Amino acid sequence: MAGKILVTGGMGYIGSHTVVELQQSGYQVVILDNLSNSEQGILDLITRVAGVKPEFVQLDMQNRERLEGFFREHHDLEGVIHFAAYKAVGESVENPLMYYRNNVGSLVNLLDCMTDSPAAKNLVFSSSCTVYGQPDTLPVSEDAPVKPAMSPYGNTKQISEEIIEDTCQANGGLEAISLRYFNPIGAHESGLLGELPLGVPNNLVPFITQTAIGKRAQLTVFGKDYDTPDGTCIRDYIHVSDLARAHVVALERLLAKQHQKSHEIFNLGTGTGYSVLEAVNTFEQTTRVKLNWKFSDRRPGDVEKVWADTGTANKVLGWKAERGLKEMMSTAWQWEVNLNDGLMD
Ligand code: UD1
Repeated sequence: MAGKILVTGGMGYIGSHTVVELQQSGYQVVILDNLSNSEQGILDLITRVAGVKPEFVQLDMQNRERLEGFFREHHDLEGVIHFAAYKAVGESVENPLMYYRNNVGSLVNLLDCMTDSPAAKNLVFSSSCTVYGQPDTLPVSEDAPVKPAMSPYGNTKQISEEIIEDTCQANGGLEAISLRYFNPIGAHESGLLGELPLGVPNNLVPFITQTAIGKRAQLTVFGKDYDTPDGTCIRDYIHVSDLARAHVVALERLLAKQHQKSHEIFNLGTGTGYSVLEAVNTFEQTTRVKLNWKFSDRRPGDVEKVWADTGTANKVLGWKAERGLKEMMSTAWQWEVNLNDGLMD
């Protein structure tokens, strides 16, 4: 029987998929989540998909005393996968302290608890390709320079990686892997787990599916004059289930002590970039649903093009994304249809 793993933010989009993946690999999972961007009902859906109910503790990790209490009660944790954080770029610009307090404050509390804990020394951290800004060369590899952050949200990811690096260099025994995600999209193949955007979605695919189902009148494509083949921005979209699998692989690398240094960093993408129009067209072709969309001006802060050099993740981590853009779109659509049919009501 594999050990007990803490998943913070385990009720969220990537977290819930990772919990299922862990359970299906035989791990016992404890979820910590404050439900600030999720719903209690996700717990039942995780249980339906995996056939096992994870332990769930509702807790805000900014509350250090409660987090310490949690670690005292759970002294047998073998590893931690840390997702719990805010992630809306625009909101972070309007309310930076909320982002620093939550994203950085919670991480510091977590690392303190892990340092004090006799067991929980292995950390997988949820980082982002946003740390590269607009890279000078593409595809972007892990040794590309970290660029000045374009938002407080992006800055919290950079600072968090630095805090983890410093903590790993100190004597507390922490071992960590930071995973820099490109653009996670799609949903679980069961149609029972997916992204639950709060209010109007900021990200492309939830906006596409909500427009297609009729919740939004029209999709806006931001910018048509970028230096790309069709003039729209290019991203490396990655299926959330491939991403979830990578977390289990990273965790097992730490547990098996196969890591080569105390803090490793890997890009998680497919290595292929698609433009916004290619994403829209693939959605239409895969689902046979017509999208109402228009062009508008560029969105401030968007990088023009970015896709991953996946060589290190493939060769060193031993993980490769398997699902393509069509599967990402079809599963995202099935999830939206299921939500519309009252899955979460
Ligand atoms: C954004 C964040 C990134 C974060 C990620 C996941 C920025 C600059 N980056 O990535 O740091 O890790 O979300 O939360 O915000 N688009 C449209 N119409 C829309 C929405 C998006 O045309 O309604 C376009 C965007 O201009 C972009 C692409 O679709 O070219 C992808 O956008 P999005 O899904 O928001 O992801 P990123 O901006 O790449």
